[in-house]
Amino acid sequence: MGLGYTVRASQTMLRHPRQGVERVRGRIDRRRDLRDLAALGVPQSELYGAVDDAARPLHEAIDAAWPCQAAASFDEVWDEVVTGLSASGVRIGLASYAGWSDCDRAQAQAIWCIVAHLHPVTVVETGVAHGVTSRVILEGLERGGSGQLWSVDLPAVDPALHSEIGMAVPEDLRSRWTYVAGTSRDRLPRLLANLPQLDLFVHDSLHTGRNLRFELDSAWAVVRPGGVVVVDDIDHSLGFRTFIKRARPSAWFAAKKVTGGGLWGVAIKTATPTLDPNGRAGSD
Ligand SMILES: C[S@@+](CC[C@H](N)C(=O)[O-])C[C@H]1O[C@@H](n2cnc3c(N)ncnc32)[C@H](O)[C@@H]1O
Ligand SMILES: [Zn+2]
Repeated sequence: MGLGYTVRASQTMLRHPRQGVERVRGRIDRRRDLRDLAALGVPQSELYGAVDDAARPLHEAIDAAWPCQAAASFDEVWDEVVTGLSASGVRIGLASYAGWSDCDRAQAQAIWCIVAHLHPVTVVETGVAHGVTSRVILEGLERGGSGQLWSVDLPAVDPALHSEIGMAVPEDLRSRWTYVAGTSRDRLPRLLANLPQLDLFVHDSLHTGRNLRFELDSAWAVVRPGGVVVVDDIDHSLGFRTFIKRARPSAWFAAKKVTGGGLWGVAIKTATPTLDPNGRAGSD
């Protein structure tokens, strides 16, 4: 980390003090999450009964036939994403953008199938970075002929990386896309309040328990019955476990990543909302 980076990062922190507070808070929360996880005493893959292959559980959960034709078309999309990013000179995979990783292939395939089978009109995600999940969602919406995506994303503290944001999303897919810069804590509440309904929510931003609970509680309150949430890196905190207990989705599962060894999860909202009234957004 050179002097240039320190100067640029300090300027960003001074220009956006509220975001700076969230960045610092995230580091403190991360330490607390690690302590909670260490006290758990059981591997998280066991805690959640994580599956190696999410394809069948996913299709059962969303009541779609498996095998499906949509899954077969994913390989071509994934190849295009990888080829396109490589051609732009960007490294893909783990810790490839300011320490953040691009979406896991298995998780991207699940998102692809959810979009193909659910036909969402309104999709919200948090966390863009290179825009792999954004691209997969937008490509799916385009092929389905309807739907809009809103992506809330805190740009990297170093402006030198900003040209990489959303690089995986080609120009011809951007008419369905709104990029909302800022922290999910700042941006998500107003965004969600102004949507007529929410069909699909994808969390892939700051994975602390505090931030995850905030995002999931906020989104779940407006996800329509039968709507879906996809949650990346559920093994970084106990936030997903808390959410499942409180929200009592009609179906949920956890799955292992293909790369990096982490876990991701999916939950489907039941026809009758059951969110614990004590579990409202912003409760901590
Ligand atoms: C794991 S990356 C997203 C990867 C992306 N979904 C993909 O598939 O390529 C996480 C992103 O969330 C952003 N981020 C970090 N903290 C955030 C916060 N509090 N609110 C919103 N976005 C945040 C990071 O800057 C980064 O761009
Ligand atoms: Zn499918």
